[in-house]
Amino acid sequence: MTQPTPIPRDGRPRLLDLFCCAGGAATGYQRAGFAVTGVDIVDRSARYPFTFRQGDALTVLAGLIASGEIAAYSAIHASPPCQDKCALTVGTNQAMGWGGDHVDLVAPTRELLEATGLPYVIEQPDGKADVRKDITLCGEMFGLGVLRHRNFELGRWTAAKPRHVKHRGYVRGWRHGVYRDGPYVAAYGKGGGKATVPEMQQAMGIHWTDVHEELTEAIPPAFSQWLGRALLDHLDAGQVAA
Ligand SMILES: C[S@@+](CC[C@H](N)C(=O)[O-])C[C@H]1O[C@@H](n2cnc3c(N)ncnc32)[C@H](O)[C@@H]1O
Repeated sequence: MTQPTPIPRDGRPRLLDLFCCAGGAATGYQRAGFAVTGVDIVDRSARYPFTFRQGDALTVLAGLIASGEIAAYSAIHASPPCQDKCALTVGTNQAMGWGGDHVDLVAPTRELLEATGLPYVIEQPDGKADVRKDITLCGEMFGLGVLRHRNFELGRWTAAKPRHVKHRGYVRGWRHGVYRDGPYVAAYGKGGGKATVPEMQQAMGIHWTDVHEELTEAIPPAFSQWLGRALLDHLDAGQVAA
């Protein structure tokens, strides 16, 4: 039988944010009501807004399971790097030497997440065939200046799929020799009309980092705030005071 989730003393359930980068996802979960701890292999401590631990996400998670410390958490979010088989890194980019050599971390991440017994979320961009599209979110659902479609696999919990809303126009920039203007910016890469750092910050609602790579990797906090609220609704059913 599943044990009820204890509520920590500060009243906020704890969420472990694996592959956290500068905390786009983390910020949405925090706004939804979670106390967030992030893990990244790169030292992001200068900009990650919450408790940060540097290390390999799978090693840290395996350690938390082995020690039993995972019991302090109510849920886990994971954004394994998407370089393997991702639409953003095949085609031209693969020809440039990216995409083929990267280790796919999704399967081993999922295996460990299952072992925790906790509800979890795995996030990937469109084009990753090996993540279930239980939920797909788009910036237009939240009135953002990016589309940034992201798929979310929900493990050990479910949420109703939101309706995908009609886009207002094009993503600004050059594609296949054609320049289009539009209400959205491309928050990845450089050149060809893609967003500047201030434009990415504005479009995604991320103002605590100005590092181009971190903005390029982030999901808008609005996405994870939506997921976090649904996750809290799910947890509410089984919670008891610690
Ligand atoms: C797609 S980004 C995560 C974006 C984040 N969810 C956000 O919304 O800001 C992936 C992150 O995984 C980190 N990373 C790559 N391999 C890792 C590993 N083995 N363990 C921990 N972090 C890793 C990268 O440094 C990068 O910051």
